[in-house]
Amino acid sequence: MKDLFSPFKIKGLELKNRIVMSPMCQYSVANQDGIAADWHYLHYVSRAIGGTGFIIIEMTDVEPDGRISNFDLGLWSDEQIAPLKKIVDACHSYGAKVGIQIAHAGRKAEDAEVPVAPSSIAFSNQYKQPRALSTEEVKSLVEKFRSAAARAVKAGFDAIELHGAHGYLLHQFHSPLTNKREDEYGKDLTKFGREVIEAVKAEMPEDMPLMMRISAKEYVEGGYGIEESLVFARQYQQAGVDLFDVSSGGEGHFPADGGPGSHAGYQVPLAREIKQALDVPVIAVGRLEDPVLANAVIGNEDADLAAIGRELLRNPYWALDAAVKLKKETAIPKPYSRAF
Ligand SMILES: Cc1cc2nc3c(=O)[nH]c(=O)nc-3n(C[C@H](O)[C@H](O)[C@H](O)COP(=O)(O)O)c2cc1C
Repeated sequence: MKDLFSPFKIKGLELKNRIVMSPMCQYSVANQDGIAADWHYLHYVSRAIGGTGFIIIEMTDVEPDGRISNFDLGLWSDEQIAPLKKIVDACHSYGAKVGIQIAHAGRKAEDAEVPVAPSSIAFSNQYKQPRALSTEEVKSLVEKFRSAAARAVKAGFDAIELHGAHGYLLHQFHSPLTNKREDEYGKDLTKFGREVIEAVKAEMPEDMPLMMRISAKEYVEGGYGIEESLVFARQYQQAGVDLFDVSSGGEGHFPADGGPGSHAGYQVPLAREIKQALDVPVIAVGRLEDPVLANAVIGNEDADLAAIGRELLRNPYWALDAAVKLKKETAIPKPYSRAF
C-alpha cells in the first residue's frame, strides 16, 4: 500500500515521501539580475526543514525577457549558479530533494519592453502586444533552454521541470489558440517543445528525471481539452519526459461560465487520466492541503506525488503536521523533537 509517506523513486531521484512543494514564483530577486537572494534561501530551506520530500524551485527563466517580472529567478548566466547551489546543498542536508522549473513567459512577460511569442496575439488588452519570434529566434530559444539546463545540472539539482503550463511559452507553442505560425513550428505544434526536451535531456545525466508541467485542459472558448493534451503529452513523453506535473488553464481570462474549480482536488481527475493513458508517473496539484485527501490521492493511485502550493506558503511545516495527522513516522529535526 502506497501513502503520502512512502518513498518514491524515479531514475536516480529517491524521495523520502511523496510531498512536493509546488513551484511558486516569489518575485523576490534583489537586483533584477535573476540571482537567488537570501529570501529564496530561507524560503526553500525552511520547507526542507519542514519535512517536504521534494521541493521544486519556482519558474526560473532562460533569458531576461522570458521573465514574468524583473524580480524573477533566472538561469541565463553562470553567476546565477552558485546561490542556487547553496539552496540545493542546504535542502539536501535536511533530507529534501530539489528540482527547478525552467521556463520562458513568452507573451506573459510583463516587464519585457516587447514580449515575444509564437504569434503576435496579446494575452488580453491589459497585456502588451507580443512580437512573433522568427524561425531562427525559435531555434536560438531551444539553445537557451539547453544552456539553462546545463547550469541547473551544475547547481546540483536532482531533477528539472519544464514549464509547459499556465499559458507560458512552451504552452503557447502547443496551443492552437496562440500558435498561428506558418513555419515548421506552427505546422507541428509540439516541435518546439520536443526540441526543448531533447536539448535539455542532452545536458542532463542519464539517471536524472525530466519533468514537465502541463495544462491538461484550457478553459477559454476554443481551447484544447484532455483528449488533445493526451496526444501532445504522449509526444513529449516519447521525446524524453519522465514524469508529468498536471495542472490546467492559464491561457487566457476564463469565461464567466467556467474556469478551473476551486474545490479540493480539482485537478486530480486530469492527473489520473494522464497517468492511466500514458502509463507515466504524475504529480497531482491543486487544493490538496487536507492531508487526508493528499494521502488518498496517493493511496488510490490517482497520482504518484502530491504537490502543495499555497498551504506551504502559509505553513512551512505542513509535511510534519501531515505526518502527525496521518499517524505516520517521519524524521523530525532534532532541535524540534520536543514539540512532537
Ligand atoms: C504565489 C504563487 C506563485 C506561483 N508560481 C508558479 C510558478 O512559478 N510555476 C508554476 O508552475 N505554478 C506556479 N503557481 C501555481 C502553483 O504551483 C500551484 O499549481 C497552484 O497554486 C495550485 O496549488 P495549491 O492549490 O496547492 O496552491 C503559483 C502559485 C502561487 C500561489
